[in-house]
Amino acid sequence: MAKNKVVYFCTECGAESLKWQGKCPACGAWNTMTEHIEKQIPVGRPTVSFMPGSAKQLSQVSFEGKSRFSTGMGELDRVLGGGAVAGSLVLIGGAPGIGKSTLLLQICNALCAGRKVLYVSGEESEQQIKMRAQRIGVCAEDLYLLAETRLSDIMDAVEELKPDILIVDSIQTLYNENNDAIPGSVSQVKDCTMSMMQLSKSQGITVLVVGHINKDGAIAGPKVLEHMVDAVLYFEGDANTSYRILRAAKNRFGSTNEIGVFEMGEQGLNEVPNPSQMLLDGKPVGASGTCVACVMEGSRPVLAEVQALVAKTFANVPRRTADGFNFNRANLLLAVAEKKAGMKLSAMDAYINVIGGLQIDEPGADLPVVLAIASSYMDKPLPDHMAAIGEVGLTGEIRSVSHLSQRLTEVARLGFSSCIIPKITSEKLVIPDNLQVFAVKNLKEAIEVCL
Ligand code: TYD
Ligand code: MG
Repeated sequence: MAKNKVVYFCTECGAESLKWQGKCPACGAWNTMTEHIEKQIPVGRPTVSFMPGSAKQLSQVSFEGKSRFSTGMGELDRVLGGGAVAGSLVLIGGAPGIGKSTLLLQICNALCAGRKVLYVSGEESEQQIKMRAQRIGVCAEDLYLLAETRLSDIMDAVEELKPDILIVDSIQTLYNENNDAIPGSVSQVKDCTMSMMQLSKSQGITVLVVGHINKDGAIAGPKVLEHMVDAVLYFEGDANTSYRILRAAKNRFGSTNEIGVFEMGEQGLNEVPNPSQMLLDGKPVGASGTCVACVMEGSRPVLAEVQALVAKTFANVPRRTADGFNFNRANLLLAVAEKKAGMKLSAMDAYINVIGGLQIDEPGADLPVVLAIASSYMDKPLPDHMAAIGEVGLTGEIRSVSHLSQRLTEVARLGFSSCIIPKITSEKLVIPDNLQVFAVKNLKEAIEVCL
């Protein structure tokens, strides 16, 4: 009889080790290695393997092109890279209550048209799902529901039903009875995801899996799941607002830059095709410390309001925070503003915030951040209907950014009348008729133009 194998998993990153260690060799976390006894897997239940066969030459591999289909939600299709790819495995992660189940149930309406869809829930009963479906107007008569958590029962149901699309809500509730670990543990999550991967790759079933993220923002054993699936989409949002942003962290079939924007309403999620309008809602008029930025989110320019508050510090080391903007970059910009624009910021606390829960991670947002800081420092508002675009260099120069014409079109479309841009640009600029642009060389010039 074969002996059971003992292995150790890191509960943080899912790394596997043959001996116990105090510190995880992969992620460096302490006291996270937990013992797990790997039993011999009984014959009959397939382990992870793709189609059996021998190696093939590239030229002999038949390829019909992966067929894509629409999920019925343009914003989700966009994040998936232009629709869902048949036979792919997609993980949708997010904090509990953010709206993952709602999103997946909602797309069933469109998915059921001409396809067989099986919705497996380990969290809600069939009655609960039906109630929710009625509330959000999902009337797909031929949607199959299964409230089940045992992997083998789910596999049996899939074998019997042969669905085109399988939705699993959530991966943390499933368990493989051949594995002693508790549901939701790294080894169970890994086991169950492996089985889902096998279903998608060997039977061509499109599998959409929900994964809850823990308080640190990681799906239980994030690395374990991320490398196994074709795409990882994160559903983000501020608990205080109804807006939700869907972002791709990994996508084997498309770009990871795109975002999808939704609003949680009375009857489920509504798409927000015009996120700029949403992000600028409620922008104060005539207030100091705010500037509108235009950043590229994938192929789409998005306007966002950047706010800054600088105030005299009462601590030895001034306090600085940056929400929605890189903290180190914010510190760097504060230093450039001090040195190159003469603002005495080293004795001041500085708080920077991007409104609407958007995370802006792009050089084009540098100038609006510095202008918001300058506006708060001088306690003078920027002119109404003015936006700013540009990267700030260490010498205080304003540098060119990509897709400037496209950004200016969006700025004009949202009713802005003027925009500060870099003087030197690499592209041939097309400036909308109703937009006045101020091309500036450096930070000082930018501040003179608007403050
Ligand atoms: P849910 O999809 O259950 O979240 P998750 O699956 O990510 O845990 O969403 C639950 C939240 O959404 C809950 O707080 C209620 C809210 N909600 C609405 O506001 N309107 C709706 O129509 C629905 C279905 C949910
Ligand atoms: Mg749920």
